[in-house]
Amino acid sequence: MIIAVAHTKGGVGKTTIALNLAIERARAGRDVWLIDADRQGTAQAAIAQRAADDLSPPLACSQFTTAATLRDQLRLQGPKFDDVVIDVGGRDGEALRAALVLADVVLTPFAPRTFDVWALEDIAALIKEAEAYRAEPIKAFAVINQADSRGGDNEAAAAAVVEPFKLISPGIGRRKSIADAAGGGRSAAEAVRRDPKSVAEIEALVSQVFSM
Ligand SMILES: Nc1ncnc2c1ncn2[C@@H]1O[C@H](COP(=O)(O)OP(=O)(O)OP(=O)(O)O)[C@@H](O)[C@H]1O
Ligand SMILES: [Mg+2]
Repeated sequence: MIIAVAHTKGGVGKTTIALNLAIERARAGRDVWLIDADRQGTAQAAIAQRAADDLSPPLACSQFTTAATLRDQLRLQGPKFDDVVIDVGGRDGEALRAALVLADVVLTPFAPRTFDVWALEDIAALIKEAEAYRAEPIKAFAVINQADSRGGDNEAAAAAVVEPFKLISPGIGRRKSIADAAGGGRSAAEAVRRDPKSVAEIEALVSQVFSM
């Protein structure tokens, strides 16, 4: 299964979530390929840190940032893996458009803030455009990331999710343990200071995304 973690918006948690999905699937015994499709190379750098710390399992990770390399490499190497997770760079770039054509599933993280909720319409429009180049519709999930620990903004954001997205619940809270772990190339479950709430949220996300 090919999963694109994608949004037109920067800083929403694409890399953090892509790392957690890829690592958790690898820990469950799947053969996983993480593709860093962002020029910033953050996912690649995190996996380099994972290797330096000799964490197990090691992860296959490559960086391809053009539509052509993404398409060719997925066709050539994708079938060798059980799961492919693509961390797609922000904005309306060619890698984002290619990923929306090539993936089976798109997962869009967003913060429970007004501008972030509005931006869901941008990525929904790109998904719609990509449909013209696909044999089957893409499965689209949205997940609140950096959810507030209190107040009504999470519920308001959840209610504003637009077609074709299906909302993943409960979402991911704003949690230092998740940010710290990802920076070291670790999933929430592998965090040096493991936080059970973070682990449970990531577990729920992984099972919902991969249950389809
Ligand atoms: N659930 C979370 N809890 C706390 N901090 C988080 C969480 N998710 C992401 N962050 C932090 O928010 C910032 C942005 O996250 P990340 O780099 O994953 O987003 P991105 O969408 O990949 O950004 P970019 O568009 O720059 O690639 C980082 O500093 C990250 O550590
Ligand atoms: Mg990123």
